[in-house]
Amino acid sequence: MKRETARSLIEAAVNALSCSYSPYSNFKVGAALLTKDGKIYTGANIESASYTPTICAERVAFFTAVHSGEKDFSAIAVVGGKEGVINAFCPPCGVCRQVMTEFCDPDFEVVLFDGDNEKIMTLGELLPESFTKSNI
Ligand code: THU
Repeated sequence: MKRETARSLIEAAVNALSCSYSPYSNFKVGAALLTKDGKIYTGANIESASYTPTICAERVAFFTAVHSGEKDFSAIAVVGGKEGVINAFCPPCGVCRQVMTEFCDPDFEVVLFDGDNEKIMTLGELLPESFTKSNI
């Protein structure tokens, strides 16, 4: 993707992080999901006192987009840090990688940001040999 596309996705993810509800971990995460036709859906992590129902920022972005009728995605930016301070890359958890695999091809791009630099990986790199609908 173009550098300016990555930068604008990162900016949207950083803005989304302010909506994080994370009183238990104090780890705030923001995500910005880009559709193939250029729309951006954002998400932030939402925690629960019983912990298990906690949902990651990436899945909030995906499920919001899918609920809005979207099915075709090209990239997602993910940022996060303690107290919302972004000073390291925040790679998506395994569950989120699996959800990405449900809707995206292996060339789907995942944009990470450590506060200074971005790193772009493909879903195929993050979850190789994945189990998908084609296995059922
Ligand atoms: N979290 C995300 O939102 N996305 C990830 O991919 C990793 C973890 C959230 C879940 C929880 O609210 C907090 O970060 C600490 O694990």
